[in-house]
Amino acid sequence: MTITDTPDRYGTLSRILHWGMAILFAAQFLSAALHWALPRDHPVRDFFWSYHYALGTTLFLLVLIRGVWGLANIRRRRPVHSGLIGRAAAAGHLAMYVLMVVVPTVRLVAASGDKRGFSYLGLQIFPPREADVAWLKSVAEWHGEMGWILALLVLGHIAMAIGWHHLIKRDETLRRMAG
Ligand code: HEM
Ligand code: HEM
Repeated sequence: MTITDTPDRYGTLSRILHWGMAILFAAQFLSAALHWALPRDHPVRDFFWSYHYALGTTLFLLVLIRGVWGLANIRRRRPVHSGLIGRAAAAGHLAMYVLMVVVPTVRLVAASGDKRGFSYLGLQIFPPREADVAWLKSVAEWHGEMGWILALLVLGHIAMAIGWHHLIKRDETLRRMAG
């Protein structure tokens, strides 16, 4: 198998990024779900929430790498999505990409206006402000809602890949990412 994509299948790097990020997104949605479902100060909620900022920032960096790699591979021709259903699938992938970028971006913008500042892996990214900057923080108002929309798109994506393509149509779609 080659590192780059071809019209028949995704290459090694696209697969590593896709499956690695799928596992990390599962952990990120788990932390969000427990944040939503459990009461404040619950130790399980605190434990899973403790990595939400750092993992969210890591996912943001990974999706940028993945986007650049995906665009670089368009010229080598990635697997094609023809017909009406194919175009709907491509639109679904694009919607996931947009949310994978926008959801963490709005929170990072808000963090830049936070009086506590923001650090990532011990590096100070934004120094503490004297007071919260209201307009910067308001950018993240819909962060959670957009995060849940992304989670719904991912569930639909998994249902289409495994249920529709692999089990019902029995075509090559799952294999070109997993086979
Ligand atoms: C792709 C990455 C991310 C996803 C999918 C995601 C998802 C979510 C979701 C679904 C919620 C709602 C939880 C609830 O209803 O209680 C949430 C809340 C939150 N997230 Fe994230 N998040 C991501 C990245 C980040 C980053 C990078 C930060 C900080 C730098 C962050 C900080 C927060 C905070 C403070 C909340 C609670 C307040 C709110 O709902 O806006 N998240 N996140
Ligand atoms: C069990 C989980 C998953 C399965 C079985 C799965 C399956 C697949 C398959 C078979 C493809 C190729 C589809 C095609 O060429 O038409 C694909 C592509 C894609 N998947 Fe997933 N996926 C999963 C999780 C995720 C997650 C969690 C995300 C994002 C948060 C995601 C985002 C994407 C995107 C954006 C593409 C387009 C190709 C690319 O640019 O990488 N997938 N997935």
